[in-house]
Amino acid sequence: MLLSRKDFPEDFIFGTATSSYQIEGHSFGGAGRTHWDDFADTPGNVVRAENGDIACDHYHRYAEDLDLVANAGFDAYRFSISWARVLPEGRGAVNAEGLDFYDRLVDAMLERGLSPYATLYHWELPSALADLGGWRNRDIAQWFGDFTEVAMKRIGDRVDTVAPINEPWCVAWLSHFLGGQAPGIRDIRAAARAMHHVLLAHGRATEVMRGLGMNGLGGVFNLEWAHPADDSEGARAAAARYDGLYNRWFMGGVFRGEYPEIVLEGLEPHLPANWQDDMPLISQPLDWCGINYYTRKVLAPGTGPWPAIDEVRGILPKTYMDWEIYPEGLLQFLERTATEYTGELPIYVTENGMASHDDPVAGEVEDPHRIAYIESHLAEVRRAIARGVPVKGYFLWSLLDNYEWSFGYDKRFGLVHVDFDTLARTPKASYHALQQALTESKA
Ligand code: NOJ
Repeated sequence: MLLSRKDFPEDFIFGTATSSYQIEGHSFGGAGRTHWDDFADTPGNVVRAENGDIACDHYHRYAEDLDLVANAGFDAYRFSISWARVLPEGRGAVNAEGLDFYDRLVDAMLERGLSPYATLYHWELPSALADLGGWRNRDIAQWFGDFTEVAMKRIGDRVDTVAPINEPWCVAWLSHFLGGQAPGIRDIRAAARAMHHVLLAHGRATEVMRGLGMNGLGGVFNLEWAHPADDSEGARAAAARYDGLYNRWFMGGVFRGEYPEIVLEGLEPHLPANWQDDMPLISQPLDWCGINYYTRKVLAPGTGPWPAIDEVRGILPKTYMDWEIYPEGLLQFLERTATEYTGELPIYVTENGMASHDDPVAGEVEDPHRIAYIESHLAEVRRAIARGVPVKGYFLWSLLDNYEWSFGYDKRFGLVHVDFDTLARTPKASYHALQQALTESKA
């Protein structure tokens, strides 16, 4: 690794991230059914109809997995809490075994000197709530607030940070307009409601946690740099609409209490009545901002109805997700976030990483492409810090190869290879490189 810990400020946090449904194994421990189980059971939604039933069996192997995190020299571990594991029906009866699991998990982090960075919703909505309309139903803010209270009354005293919702764009637009994730809806009215309710739920959960006396509350936003396919006015406008929908809607709502005009032009007719009254709850002060960054999109005007955006295949080298590798976008976003939205607030890169096709050969997994990807993005983080952006940490996605949602298990993002037949873990070359970078200079 070209960079090491000493190239960053002394208090800079290095971590790695996972999420509950992607690694735990949802068939264990009394967890309730989720809309991801339903989505995966519908033919055509997920590659090979794979689901999170077993995943990495982290539910049983969490101690071994946290040893891997600690031995790599990471300072923090970003994880999520499965709503349906804690409340199988989404509301009402608590699954004590589920709550105990997160209690043990957090203690296991602390025993290893790892700071717990919690996320409350990383996409597996309990099916019982999906049946009531899920993110289309305004009541979800209350349901989510109640779940937040149950979870945080148990572990809130031991987590360093909490983000209510991971990647609101995916929860709302990707899942309700593009149909790419559970519940797989393609409907502008459903999407508009989800776009607003996801932030309302963020606000309600934040309010609940403040009520419990908690600090360290933030939000995690996925950002994709919007690059016009050419210099035409049409391409630039398409890129601006994409930027609005993907990036500025959520940051605008949360940090400024307003939605961007360029998106309201298309979405306003479909928003719930009196949505403006919710903006104070949505935009209450936070303690930090998290950015998940992977790639950019190249955009051209589309022919269909609003937002009329076409994605064009770009010319940059790509990962196994077919995502262009564009580290410069991370620097641009870090600067823009601080300048336009968050000011002095600490910013964390809460996810960054790449998928590849990694196979063990004689017990070793060589992934030089991942090492290069991490190096190039960390270099941009360093540049941002040098320019005065208050970036306080970087989390690699992901610790383990895991369930990459509708792409199933084939897209491997891990620092640690998982054999999904035997569940054996094999640290890849990228794991060892990071370990060296993080531990060598720590002493
Ligand atoms: C973002 C999501 O938070 C995570 O669940 C996903 O696996 C990675 N990006 C890679 O797509």
